[in-house]
Parts: sequence; structure tokens; C-alpha cells
Amino acid sequence: MKRKLLLLSLLGHIVSCSQSPENEGPIYLDVDKPVEERVEDALARMTLEEKVKMTHAQSKFSSPGVPRLGIPEVWCTDGPHGIRPEVYWDDWDMAGWTNDSCTVFPALTALAATWNEDLSHLYGISIGEEAKYRNKSVLLGPGVNICRFPLLGRNFEYMGEDPYLASRLAVPYVKGVQEKGVAACVKHFAINNNETNRVTTNCNVDERTLHEIYLPAFKAAVQEGDAWAIMGSYNQYKGQWNCHNDLLLNDILKRKWKFDGVVISDWGGVHDTEQAVKNGLDLEMGTWTNGLDRSMSNAYENYFLAKPYYEGIRSGKYGTGELDDKCRRILRMIFRTTMAKERYWGRFTCPEHDQAAYEIGAESIVLLKNDGLLPLQVKKGQKVLVVGENAIKKMSVGGGSSSLKAQHEIVPIEGIRAELEGKAEVLFERGYKGDVTGVYNRVVTGQNLSESRSEDDLIRDAVEAARKADFVIFIGGLNKATFQDCEGRDRVEYNLPYNQDKVIEALAEANDKLVVVNISGSPVGMPWADKVPAILQSWYLGSEAGICLADVLVGKVNPSGKLPFSYPKVYSDCPIRTERQYPGLLEGRTGGVESYDVPIYDIYYDEGIFVGYRWYEAQNIEPQFAFGHGLSYTTFEISEIHSDKESFRKDGQITITVNVKNTGKVAGSEVVQLYIQDMEASVERPKKELKGFHKVYLEPGESKEVNFIIDVSHLSFYDPETHSWKAEPGSFVAHVGSGSDKIRQTLIFGLK
Ligand code: BGC
Repeated sequence: MKRKLLLLSLLGHIVSCSQSPENEGPIYLDVDKPVEERVEDALARMTLEEKVKMTHAQSKFSSPGVPRLGIPEVWCTDGPHGIRPEVYWDDWDMAGWTNDSCTVFPALTALAATWNEDLSHLYGISIGEEAKYRNKSVLLGPGVNICRFPLLGRNFEYMGEDPYLASRLAVPYVKGVQEKGVAACVKHFAINNNETNRVTTNCNVDERTLHEIYLPAFKAAVQEGDAWAIMGSYNQYKGQWNCHNDLLLNDILKRKWKFDGVVISDWGGVHDTEQAVKNGLDLEMGTWTNGLDRSMSNAYENYFLAKPYYEGIRSGKYGTGELDDKCRRILRMIFRTTMAKERYWGRFTCPEHDQAAYEIGAESIVLLKNDGLLPLQVKKGQKVLVVGENAIKKMSVGGGSSSLKAQHEIVPIEGIRAELEGKAEVLFERGYKGDVTGVYNRVVTGQNLSESRSEDDLIRDAVEAARKADFVIFIGGLNKATFQDCEGRDRVEYNLPYNQDKVIEALAEANDKLVVVNISGSPVGMPWADKVPAILQSWYLGSEAGICLADVLVGKVNPSGKLPFSYPKVYSDCPIRTERQYPGLLEGRTGGVESYDVPIYDIYYDEGIFVGYRWYEAQNIEPQFAFGHGLSYTTFEISEIHSDKESFRKDGQITITVNVKNTGKVAGSEVVQLYIQDMEASVERPKKELKGFHKVYLEPGESKEVNFIIDVSHLSFYDPETHSWKAEPGSFVAHVGSGSDKIRQTLIFGLK
């Protein structure tokens, strides 16, 4: 009897695999057939069990394919700055592979500071190739949440405070990754703007603010970048967890934006089977629970979309419509990546990727202040003193899930030494003791940064050495330890940690040839800014960090980065001022599941659309350094603003043109920025909003025309009454300049 059954089932299998009359293979394997046909064919062959399995994880970073049909597993990887080292199947510890040390690309704040869409594309294809080589189907990035305030722990993984800048840079990154046959997973959707209490926060944001500030970069990544995946965030919106939030996922993302990819949960962001079934989630990852306790390992069968889902369908509680939709999306992603027609290839830690990391890093460094000391004119035999822990500290590790094992990382002092070798003596003093942790997110740095001197002794030694030096380069800032630029917790202070303000002040008194290099992924307080002659903002620059910085210091690279966020002078200047706004109020609501019901913080986005420079300008608060600010070793002139017409109609456009000229002695690039102001709006609007930029490279004396094409989308605000974008006829001002506070030309035009 058993044998007979086996024979019958084998026969059935053979019949189902050879359906077509011509006896060709199944459609889903035919790469020449349209993806949608392949999806339907594969779906029709899958059993209920196979479908349910497809919707949840089988290990920390993978979900099952359909082994019987030869449909491969989905393998995800962090993201967004390089390919994460392998962890065990069911444990976060490093799996101990020796072939997973990657190229580390500059952090996304650095990419944003380049204001260069071509470099974002280069970033995307390079990291896409690294992911492909490591056989990953999904890269967990880019991160496009808005920097709502300077202390956000994950600012460094995002692209600044402006939705337009973040959108323009997210799109080429996504396209680049996907051109390599790897799905970009844009994260964290949405309004994930705090790390402290990130899993116990409900965000109260008005509809206009949501659409004008917090959603545009996601929308651009989906509609213009055609992102194949998106990650739900840990927090709640309108009392519903964002990994299964009906309004965000079903209504906005899938219905309005027509997203046809996969919604992947953030790791552990799913809380409920019914909501996960119905509210737009497709793939459940990282859940810690069997629904009752958090500690169970290998609990994949107990995931919300596993046994409870299967049983719910069997008992008639759920239909199969949602399940088919989830599987269609996952299959589509598989047919776009691992089973695509194109035979994509990857490469790993190659010179081309180092070069890409170098180019992005070098273009991202922002010259904040320069009284003529930079570029350094070091003469033979002179002494250059480097002070500060960040000169020697490896920064690819740390920060949480984006922590990486670098194949190599050139730290700043190595870059400077290599640059000045045979010319100057490069000395080092620690100056302060910051974070000496050797293990971050279970990645080991291998560095021993222990230090036994007291704070006072460290300063004294640095000052003594500074007095004898011809130049002093202080390299400090934040790092990627908890409570710095790091996932899971926000920062607790705006000024630099570890006594650094005192060190910088002491160095400034000891030597007037002092350059301060701040390495961070967030704005920091710089109370000493007036006392030092030169300040550079650097970032977590990855594998080639030290070379990028050295080349800018000596002028081999003319800095052309611009700030992707404002630096308020003091923290109290920033828009987040009340407990309601952050960390929020406990109003008696709880969330989570059964045994870990937790109090929920309600955070009120009372500042509304006034985030970053929109706030400082509305309040007439002068920041220390404004959004878009960044100097150069040359000078530029922006002139001759004009437009092709005085006004335009809603279905048309207007072109605004300026001339930009390099008026200095060295070649360099300027980012010409266009901000728009609505002069007669019926609603409150920012004084100006970024709506265009072009990065222009110019030889000395050279000039170029720059055109900005403006249509109605650049003039619109979101109208919550009609739930749509609206542009009101009237006058607008085009402000064109080299920073939000450096407007050089203005022009008034009309919308009819
Ligand atoms: C982070 C995600 C990350 C995921 C997987 C989560 O804790 O929020 O950004 O991709 O872990 O490591």
C-alpha cells in the first residue's frame, strides 16, 4: 500500500513538472518568460506548507525557498555600509568565517555629504557586487530616516535632515545595488527617529509632516528607484506596530505607491499573527518568540507567520488571499535576483571597491572653517603632532547591526604618516581616553587601546608636545560605542564626550596652527569653534578613511562636501525641546505580546514640518554651521540668475539658470543649491526648502551654466484635507547659493 502511494505521488510530481504540451520545462524555470508568469506558475505548484514557510525566517538571516521546486532560499545581509560578517545559523555570534572581511564603504551620512548622485550610484553598484559575491539576495539598506534631532543614535546610517537630499541620494544607491541582481531593502519604514525606546515608541505625527518630511525618501526609493524590498520599523504609528501597520504598508506603500516588492520586518518587529497576516507584512524576520517568551532559540516554527498562521488557515480563521500575495512578492523578488534571467556576477574587496570607498570618502569631508591654515603647507623637517583617539581607532566595527569586519582599514594616523613620510616627523599623543572596547556587536577589533594615564596627564602630555610642534591636528569626535553613534540608544550629550572640549581648548592655547577634525555621524556641539583656525568634519569613512583625510589635509583633494544636517550652537536651540517631543510620555498604554507587554512612550512631533534648517530659519536661530555649508580651497562666484519665463502654468515648468565660476587658484567642485520659498501660501511654510542641487567641477577661472528645472512638484505642500499634494498659484522665490545660509542669487517667479 505504502509503495503504491509513493508511486502515485511520484507520478503526480512528474505530471505537474511537465505540464506543457511540448514537454518543455515548467514556466517558472524559463527565464525568458515574463516574471509575472513565472510567479504564477511557481505559486500554483506550491503546497500550503511551502507557502507558509516562505513567509518567515529559517535562521537569523535567511528564509526558506522551496527545495522541492529548486527555488532558492532568500539570504539577507546588513547593510548599509558593507557586507556583514556571517553569524551562526541561530545565534548572533560570529560564525568564524575567514573569508567574510569586506570592503567598508563610508557611512551614509558621508555619502549624503558628497551631494553627488553619481557617487551614490557607484556606492550602490560596489556594495551590490560585494553582496552578490557573498551570495546575498537582499542588502538591508539604504537607511533613509530623517535626522529629526542631533542625538539620534543612528543618524550615521541615514542621509541627513532634508527629505529632498535624502531622496536624491537614495534613488541611485537602490538602482546601483539592484543592477547587480541584489534587492535593496530600504529601511526603516517609517518615522523611526529615536533609538532609545525604539521598540516601545508610538509616533504621533500629523499627516502633512509625515508626507512632507518623513516619507519622501521612501517614496522616491520605491517609485523612482524601484526598490524590491522595504523594512518595517520597530516603532508604532497611530498605535499600530509599523511592521504590520495597515495605513503605512497597505494603504500608502502598496496601494498608493504601487510597491510590488517585499515588506520585510525589522528583526523582532512582529508582534501579532492576525496583524502580520492582514496589515501588509510579507516576510517575518528576527522574531525572538514563540508568542510567549523571548528566549527560545530555533523558534522559527513558532514565529507569528509560521505554525499559528498555518493553523489559522486550516481552521478557517484566515483565507489564503493574503498568503498568496506575500508569496507572489517573495517569488517576484527571487526571480529578480537569484533566479533572474541575467547571470549577475559579484566581486569582493577588490581595488575597484577600495577606489570607490576612497572617492566617496574624499568627496564627503566638509571644510567647516578655514582661516588659511589648510591645506597644510608642511616643510621638510617640520613636526606634525596628531592628537586624539579617533586618529588611531578603527571605526568599521561598532554601531550595532552595521558593524563590519574590514578586510583593511587605514586609520587617520596611518594615512597622515604615509602622506608625510620622508617630509615631516609625525608624532602622536592620545589627548583623551574614550572608548577602549575591543568587541562591538561581537566583531573583534583586535586593537588594544588601553590607557592608564589620568585625564589631566593626557592633556598635559598633549599640550607639551603641541608647544614643540609646527602643526597640530586634533582628530576626535564620537565613535560607535553605545550612547555614541550607535543603534539601540541615542546619545545623551550634544557636546563631545570624554573631556574633548577641554583638550581642544588647551591645544588651541598651546599652538595656533591647530586643525580640528571631528569624526562623527551626527552634529556635535563645538563651543571652541571661534578659538581654532580650521575645522574639518569627517565621518566614518571605512576602509580608506586615513587616505581620504590625509589627502584633504594636504590639499591633494580639494574639499567639496556639504553638511547634510545643521549644527546648532547649543542643544537647546534644536526643535526637540519638551518631554512630549522626546523621549515621549507614558500615557498608560502598553504593547507587545503576552508575557512582554511593555509601556509605550507616546512621542509627539510637535515641531511638525520644522525640522533642521526649516526650524532654525523659522525661529531666526543662527546655527554654528548651517545645512548645506561647506568651504573649499578655492572660491566660487554664483551670478547671472535668470529664467526662461516669468511664470508658468501647473502643467508646465520653468528653467532657472545661474552661472558658477571658480574664482580661485585651484580646481574644485561647488554644490550649487536651489531653495524655494512660497511667498503667499495659505498654510505655514518653511522660509525655504531645498528643491535642487548640482555639483559642478571647475578648473581655476572656468565657469559653467547650471540649470534647475522646476515644476509644480517643487512648489507643492501636502494638504491633509484632500490627502494630496497642492501647489497654490502665486509668487515664489528661487534662492540659489552654496549653502542654506549662503544665498548668492534670488529670483521671483510665478505660478499661474
Ligand atoms: C536593525 C536593522 C538590521 C537588522 C538585522 C535590526 O536590529 O534595526 O537595521 O538590518 O537588525 O541585523
